Amino acid sequence: MFRGQTTMKRNFLMGAAALASLATLSACGGGAGSDANAPAPAETTAAVEAPAATETPAAAGAGATLEYASFTTDAAAGEKAFAACRTCHVFDEGVNRVGPSLHKIVGRKSGSVAGFSYSDANKNSGITWTPQVLFEYLKDPKAYVPGTKMAFPGVKDDQKRADLVAYLEAQSK
Ligand code: HEC
Repeated sequence: MFRGQTTMKRNFLMGAAALASLATLSACGGGAGSDANAPAPAETTAAVEAPAATETPAAAGAGATLEYASFTTDAAAGEKAFAACRTCHVFDEGVNRVGPSLHKIVGRKSGSVAGFSYSDANKNSGITWTPQVLFEYLKDPKAYVPGTKMAFPGVKDDQKRADLVAYLEAQSK
């Protein structure tokens, strides 16, 4: 009887020490059962965090459509990327440079800026400049709109291009 009590006491103390950070309920159980419980909360946390940390859609292979929506974008970084466009485009309504005004470009139909002399390729493309379309177009404009006179090789970096589209979206509000 006396020995049994000692053992129980020791188990309790060991359990309490090992599970100091766990709830009283677990500590009372002591021994192996509680130890098995210990890793569980950590795994649950990891599982919850995992989807949020998925930020490598670039891993999608060739042929798979890369979704703009799957990127975490940074419009401020996109503004910097827009420096490459600024030589030919501004956002002011009615102000055409080498390229047409990009006033409210997101959601607009291609070739719709009055007074700009578009190529037939652009004008007749039937494109509506959604974020996803812009994301694909800006990777390689000449491939997306064969015959376009936009002399721009494209932004190859997917993240940078996604940020750029986010900036275009912000400017179109
Ligand atoms: C060298 C000048 C130049 C640069 C640099 C340039 N563009 Fe253009 N862009 C043009 C021209 C010219 C057109 C008209 C194309 C046509 O008519 O074929 C155009 C057309 C467009 C269109 C279609 C507009 C419409 O009304 O249909 C979009 C969108 C666009 N550019 C976005 C961009 C973005 C974003 C960048 C920077 C990543 C950029 N362009 C860089 C010259 C340029």
